[in-house]
Amino acid sequence: MAGRALFLPHNGLFVVPSLSSIGSSRAWHLGATLRLGPRSLAATSISSYGFCRSALRSEADATKATQPEAFVLTTPLYYVNAPPHMGSAYTTIAADAVARFQRLLGKNVIFVTGTDEHGEKIAAAAAKSGSTPSDHCDNVSLAYRSLWKDLDISHDKFIRTTDPNHEAVVKEFYSRVLSSGDIYRADYEGLYCVDCEEYKDEKELLENNFCPIHLKPCVRRTEDNYFFALSKYQKSLEEYLIDNPNFVQPSFRLNEVQSWIKSGLRDFSISRASVEWGIPVPNDTRQTIYVWFDALLGYVSALLKEGEEPTLDKAISSGWPASLHLIGKDILRFHAVYWPAMLMSAGLPLPDMVFGHGFLTKDGMKMGKSLGNTLEPKDLVNRFGADAVRYFFLREVEFGNDGDYSEDRFINIVNAHLANTIGNLLNRTLGLLKKNCQSILAIDSAAAVEGSPFKDIVENLVEKARLHYECLSLSSACECILEIGNAGNLYIDEHAPWSLFKKGGPSSEAAKKDLVIILETMRIIAVALSPVAPSLCLRVYSQLGYSKDQFEALTWGDTKWGGLKSGQVMAEPQPVFGRIESKKEEEDGMKFPQNAPKQKKVKASW
Ligand code: MSP
Repeated sequence: MAGRALFLPHNGLFVVPSLSSIGSSRAWHLGATLRLGPRSLAATSISSYGFCRSALRSEADATKATQPEAFVLTTPLYYVNAPPHMGSAYTTIAADAVARFQRLLGKNVIFVTGTDEHGEKIAAAAAKSGSTPSDHCDNVSLAYRSLWKDLDISHDKFIRTTDPNHEAVVKEFYSRVLSSGDIYRADYEGLYCVDCEEYKDEKELLENNFCPIHLKPCVRRTEDNYFFALSKYQKSLEEYLIDNPNFVQPSFRLNEVQSWIKSGLRDFSISRASVEWGIPVPNDTRQTIYVWFDALLGYVSALLKEGEEPTLDKAISSGWPASLHLIGKDILRFHAVYWPAMLMSAGLPLPDMVFGHGFLTKDGMKMGKSLGNTLEPKDLVNRFGADAVRYFFLREVEFGNDGDYSEDRFINIVNAHLANTIGNLLNRTLGLLKKNCQSILAIDSAAAVEGSPFKDIVENLVEKARLHYECLSLSSACECILEIGNAGNLYIDEHAPWSLFKKGGPSSEAAKKDLVIILETMRIIAVALSPVAPSLCLRVYSQLGYSKDQFEALTWGDTKWGGLKSGQVMAEPQPVFGRIESKKEEEDGMKFPQNAPKQKKVKASW
């Protein structure tokens, strides 16, 4: 040993540089130049919308530009130690809503998701299931892809960290960081949580060294590893967060990150001598690269195009930096501290934003594979349909905060909003149109609404929904869209077109206009809600006489009033979303509906 007992209080580890390690690692300089992404965010003055001003500005820029603006967003890459649960599905559903919204704005979206397949936790899970790690990863990774299909997830890239192209990118990145002088070898000792795949700071642990997230004891370990010189980046990170206050969202999470940094950054070990299931360290195949150092690079390697040479430069030039990393709050430190420092070291631009959402909880505890208190997303989708699941979690959990699941609440919300406010209004209006107008619109929607303040009400709410989507306030976006539905219900109740048709003459003409107004409202709802409930919105669009291709070609501009024209023929009225019966009703002998168009009839509200 060249040096003894160099104590770095990082995560409670004793770091003792070993003979071979010192060389470049002692040259603790900030050699890497930080090139910022073109979309780095500016401070905002729209108080209630946090970081949203930048989003609005970038939209304006996109209109000016000849090329559509890129929008790269990522979910975490999910561990394949066990099949997906509702907590892991949650981030992906939210990311999908954001991706679909950004596509409506005309952005060139690359939506990245995937699976994190290396490390001790995965190897142990494979051994437990009696499979090889590779077979185990294939199976669980497939379970993720299958769930994403069931949930209507529209990802563009699915990266697996066992993909050879990814491995090539990781090795190249490691070599770059090494040549920046930021990797050195040292012995360490510390308390490790295998479920977190992280050495823990003793201060953060519960009694008997229990991990506060997984409620399992951490294990004391001593190893000889390679370290990343995170502490070198303390000042750069501090300055970066001051200059880019929107980098970490919601803003209350920024405070948390800043206080971690302020309390002193300590180098972390980026290789494992004891783990075989991983990417070998370049120049030292007795060690494998730490699973987090490997997995974070999946965000970059995912960008490689089919058949392309797997180099870091090629991946970077295909869309890096990402506009948005959506993650859960438990992995904020990796994304808002480790990852930016790693990118700085490699001389690469930082992503525009890291958004840490809250946890889905069951009985107040984080729902998770390790605690075994999960909710089965496949089961929920099979029982209630993808739209109901997506809508419930996006509408009910304020994005950024924790949210608890209860089946009663789920059924109540979905029935009230999707079956009644939207489905029922559409179905009854189409019924009236069929009975009185042979399902044909009598007048353009623009002309029908002339002289009525109703159009302004709808357009104001649509604009609010857009702002909320921009700010990732997904629940508030849903709320505004539902308000449009409520306004439509109120309108029809007040105007009572069914009575006007009975009176005949000019009253009947007024009733025809009313129906067009409601159907145009439904059309706008279908465009605006399509990021959240895409299949339901397609069904609404089909009921309005449009094709799937027309639905798929929609842009946010189609939320403008005036899309429906005189002469448009509506489809045969079919319920677009059936009421879900509660367990009680089901037990009382009522059939439990699958949430598909062929639903049992819904009760008329008027
Ligand atoms: N493999 C790492 C991520 C590497 S990213 C380069 C990982 N995987 S995970 O499968 O454990 O978690 C993935 C995501 O699921 C995290 O964002 C985590 O916060 C989220 N969730 C897991 N359980 C959750 C809840 N109960 N509620 C909400 N999200 C939670 O971490």
